[in-house]
Amino acid sequence: MKAGFRIKKRYWMAILVLIILGWFGYKAAHASHQSNEGTKFVIGVSQANLTEPWRVAMNNEIKSESDRYKDLHVIYTDAAHSIDKQKQDINKLLDFGIDLLIISTNDSKSLTPIIAKVHKKIPVIVLGRAIDGYDYSLFIGPANEVIGRNAGQLVADLAGDKKVNLVEIQGLSQSPPVIERSKGFKEIIENHPNIHQVDTIVADWNRDKAEDEVIKRLKKNRKINFVFAHSDAMALGVHRALEKKGIQGFNIIGVDGLEGDDGGLDLVRRNILKGTFAYRTGGKESIQYAMDLLQGKSGIPKKILLRVNKITKDNVDQYVQTKQNTLNISKQQKNRIELGFVQVGKESSWRAANSSSIKKAAQDFGIELKFKNANQSMNNQIKAIRNFIRERVDIIAFSPIVQTGYEDVLKEAKMAGIPVILTDRELSLKDDTLWLTSIGSDFQEEGRRAARWLLEQTKGVKKNINIVELQGTPGASPTVYRKKGFEELLRNHSNYHIIASQSGDFTKEAGRSVMKDYLEKYGEEIQVVYAHNDDMALGAIEAIEEYGKRPGKDILIISVDATKEAFNALFAGKLNLTVECNPMLGPELMKVIMDYTEGKEIPVKIVTEEGIFSQENAKRDFINRAY
Ligand code: AHR
Repeated sequence: MKAGFRIKKRYWMAILVLIILGWFGYKAAHASHQSNEGTKFVIGVSQANLTEPWRVAMNNEIKSESDRYKDLHVIYTDAAHSIDKQKQDINKLLDFGIDLLIISTNDSKSLTPIIAKVHKKIPVIVLGRAIDGYDYSLFIGPANEVIGRNAGQLVADLAGDKKVNLVEIQGLSQSPPVIERSKGFKEIIENHPNIHQVDTIVADWNRDKAEDEVIKRLKKNRKINFVFAHSDAMALGVHRALEKKGIQGFNIIGVDGLEGDDGGLDLVRRNILKGTFAYRTGGKESIQYAMDLLQGKSGIPKKILLRVNKITKDNVDQYVQTKQNTLNISKQQKNRIELGFVQVGKESSWRAANSSSIKKAAQDFGIELKFKNANQSMNNQIKAIRNFIRERVDIIAFSPIVQTGYEDVLKEAKMAGIPVILTDRELSLKDDTLWLTSIGSDFQEEGRRAARWLLEQTKGVKKNINIVELQGTPGASPTVYRKKGFEELLRNHSNYHIIASQSGDFTKEAGRSVMKDYLEKYGEEIQVVYAHNDDMALGAIEAIEEYGKRPGKDILIISVDATKEAFNALFAGKLNLTVECNPMLGPELMKVIMDYTEGKEIPVKIVTEEGIFSQENAKRDFINRAY
């Protein structure tokens, strides 16, 4: 009886426990359902640390932008400067079932593999600090080299012909923004013999460390009179050090331009900083693009570089004002968008694909397109832009044939209040406020990719390798940067020689005739052809065959674009490599126009996604090709 009672008691206890667990389970499930009611998307934010004010501002921006979406839930993690912790954070976010990851790293190298792993499962937006390679959905970050160059220029402008003894205060040693800013900065100050960089301090983005280190250096060198600090927080540290030591007459320049007390804007207003550079966090844009990605929208680029603004006492109030105005200007245009587009010409099949992409996308997005072809003439382009200004279109886009010579007409468009977008090719003008944004490829990286492949293919070859180069149109940005990127990687290899380099103007005919001359002159010596586009490479292939040699076998042929014709040449074994230059810029252009009319902040540079195709991988990718 007693035993029976015990069994029964255990039985009832078990049932009671199950009921209690069940109740709590129900409550928990119900509670979480309630708190996430209406949630369609969950985004995980993996932040590197929250001690740098710039990162706090980034999270704040993410928060206020994401609050606008009712169906979005965002989970934040803080890695507190630890790489291991950031890896754990990412795994936790994945376990939680996030739909998209936004990550801002401290140390990009160590986190590259885990980011690539996550990217296989869900979209990943890399924010602020670039990582190695391209294994992510989208990179959003500032143009650090431009910041460096602008800072160098500001030092030069402030100094005039006075002698400058300058200290550079860097953030985390060897981090990409530090390397890039320093590079840009040096590029400018090297041309000014009155500017001497007397010291470099690594202060890890930390205000107090900057303060302590500057106090130490001042003891050794009393002549220092200028500081370029890679962040406003470190610049403030410098100011505190000087205050403690009772030193005046210093010029301090910072980077970040954040709002709020002791933010860069405040420091400029109080004359503590002579200038700063708005280093946008990209927090707001990351949420906007995340939503576009999650909703499967078209026209999403691979890389976005945010605009850099110089802020000094003269323009600080105006800067804040224009930030607020963007929305008003663009809202007026919302109902009827008329786009005036000026194309380069009809020089290549790349160009034909590009024109079709623009026309089709305008239709898809419901934008009225006025399309003009400049037939490879800069004067025709300028004339067409002037006509569009006269006709008062809402927005103008064009692909500048060459990098310079458009300043006046761009100023006219600015005066008329018509925004201009550069597509495909870029300009090399100091004043980047003359255009809204620039959409296209990373031409220098294309050149590097071509060289990287060549180095890999010819690894271990000790004898001389002679290359002939077929350049594009002289002065065009793809010509300048494809050359630069290619040479950059070959520079460290003494047996690679570019024995001839001439323009073939991006056309098949000119490519063929220049190659004919090369063969007559150098004949047997030529081992490699590097053509800045497929059309010239195809012309060169014909010239080589006429000469009695086998292109792709006796002479390696490398080109850029990855058009259908190039794929056919790869299949025929006559071309060895084509580096992709994506002409399908239409959807990205139309998306930017729509974003602008909605008052979204527009980045200064939008880079498209691109691949490389050799004889080995061409077949696999051919079916997916759109051009
Ligand atoms: O600006 C892009 C270049 O222009 C393409 O690579 C070339 O084919 C074109 O004509």
